[in-house]
Amino acid sequence: MKNKSYISTVIANWKMHNDFNAALDLVIKIFSYSNMAKNVEKIICPPVVNIIPLYDQFKNSTFSLGAQNINENNEGSYTGEISVNMLKNYITHAIIGHSERREIFNESNYTISLKAKALLSNKIVPVICVGEPLEIYKKNRSVEFINNQLFEILSKIQTNSQILIAYEPIWSIGNKNPADPVYVEKIITKSKDFLSTIRPIRNVNHKFLYGGSVNSKNVLDYTKQQNIDGVLVGSASLDASEFGKIVLQISNNG
Ligand code: PGA
Repeated sequence: MKNKSYISTVIANWKMHNDFNAALDLVIKIFSYSNMAKNVEKIICPPVVNIIPLYDQFKNSTFSLGAQNINENNEGSYTGEISVNMLKNYITHAIIGHSERREIFNESNYTISLKAKALLSNKIVPVICVGEPLEIYKKNRSVEFINNQLFEILSKIQTNSQILIAYEPIWSIGNKNPADPVYVEKIITKSKDFLSTIRPIRNVNHKFLYGGSVNSKNVLDYTKQQNIDGVLVGSASLDASEFGKIVLQISNNG
């Protein structure tokens, strides 16, 4: 049983879905299902163009707004990019290092580390994604792979602020193949142990979430584990009643 003061986190990652009207509609429906849910930290990350137009809705809610990515530079000639400075008055969190960004946009651990620094220096909580591809999982080398990601991203960061880490095994993403909760618990427990050896951040307040095909039927299998502090939800967060059920179940059961 987790201790009573403990609050789980649920993050919706909408990816590149929903124009403004669809986003507004979804937000209103999600709020109507789960705005009253207590004992759960709730964050929605819409596509960046919807963040500022949705801000007023969020101001009067129990949900926070997050970004799905940010550029690591403060400003400059980076065509098409968005800096933390431009979003910092509207968001509390930003996802960085999602496997889709690593794979499709070639982001390295080094770039993700710079993004984490940029967020922390603007008092935005980074949600740092890590996770192994299928080949590594099959070779039983997940722990080593994830530790390396954590080390390369976090070993040069000095902070006293909170960080979130989302363990998302790449093979589990896409609403098909959720990872075994006992396996996830094992990996997250080992990652937490490893984090406590990374000198500059070893005492930092952190949470470890799981992401990969989370839905209303399996969410509690993850959050009831001792070391899984919440979930990062993709596909299921695009359906208001499904996402509402996820939030309410965490709220009622931990
Ligand atoms: P999924 O996506 O829930 O659709 O598997 C999770 C993610 O990519 O963050």
